[in-house]
Amino acid sequence: MSSKIILAIETSCDETSVAILRCEKENLAILSNQVSSQVELHAQWGGVVPNLAAREHTKNISPVLFEALSEAQISLSQIDLISVTSGPGLIPALMVGVNFAKTLSYLLEKPLLGIHHIEGHIYANYINPDNKSLSEKFHFPALALVVSGGHTQLIFMRDHFQYEIIGQTLDDAVGEAFDKVARILNIGYPGGPAVSALAEKYKPSDERRATSKFHVQFPRPMINSKNFDFSFSGLKTAVLYETKKNPDLLKDAEYISKICYEFQQAAVDVLISKTIKAAEKYQPKTIMLAGGVSANKKLREQLGQAIQKNLPSIIYNLPLLELTGDNAAMIGVAACFRWQKMTTQEKKTLLKNWKNLQAEANLKLKPID
Ligand code: KG4
Ligand code: ZN
Repeated sequence: MSSKIILAIETSCDETSVAILRCEKENLAILSNQVSSQVELHAQWGGVVPNLAAREHTKNISPVLFEALSEAQISLSQIDLISVTSGPGLIPALMVGVNFAKTLSYLLEKPLLGIHHIEGHIYANYINPDNKSLSEKFHFPALALVVSGGHTQLIFMRDHFQYEIIGQTLDDAVGEAFDKVARILNIGYPGGPAVSALAEKYKPSDERRATSKFHVQFPRPMINSKNFDFSFSGLKTAVLYETKKNPDLLKDAEYISKICYEFQQAAVDVLISKTIKAAEKYQPKTIMLAGGVSANKKLREQLGQAIQKNLPSIIYNLPLLELTGDNAAMIGVAACFRWQKMTTQEKKTLLKNWKNLQAEANLKLKPID
């Protein structure tokens, strides 16, 4: 197959991102991956405001496209395929990227492919740290632990695009729980990085004995349940109750970091325990992490250690840190794989997809056939 130049667009939440990739059978190169973050804007509101996000995407998407083209040294006329996140996400935000992609597809007369946001997070695992080409270490069947602000799922994949959701959160996503705990503790936004940074700083007052003057302990919800589902809302509430017991303690830095440390460990323990149990049952060859929370250092390290201890023959795959959050390169990687699996007829229909593609807030993961 000759190489294709893919333009990828992601606007599902609060990052406006455009990437350019070169896609070949055994090789995949990210030529540019521009991400314009709106974090500071939404921080004043303590969460993402959908209409504000859409307004910023509209303002930023053209400049971000031009930066990507300029870094990649590619002109619009060289693009062979346009891919865009079509869902799930915030509908006003998604619509900006989808409509921009539809217009480009029509004007350039190039095929248009809608990609599921979580599929993008999963396929971020295909970028190799050394040469940024397709990872040879990746073998099916595979088990993906998807952890983001909107999702917490265990997904079993027999092959490319064959998704079976074997467990998921019954209430809050784990990233949402990190964000809410950060809000309770008033330590900043987005919550995940803030909580994990303070957890890393945690030093018990009695370092010799590694004990703290504070006795804080949180539950590990559903850790012993027979299924692979999760629940994080009770854990977040446990943090809220703990802090209400003595609000004056919230001025104590050791107390705050102890809470962050204990909360993070409780969340990580549940995620790891369920992933190992699922792997014992489904016997994957690869386990991978996906989504914004996969930036979490404790989760990355401790999941690796648990796999090494319990299932050492399984390959453990992690996305590069720079590709854990929302970005367009991951959408382009998924598009590259989808394109390679398509028939000539299917590719042809994508030329008219600018008429049909819709942003869908609750888009479901669909297998290829
Ligand atoms: O995938 P993502 O960028 O957006 C969604 O698709 O939701 O994930 C964002 C989530 C947020 O909840 C954020 O707090 C969390 O990922 N996150 C982290 C870390 N970095 C980002 N959670 C825990 N530890 C981190 N280091
Ligand atoms: Zn995401």
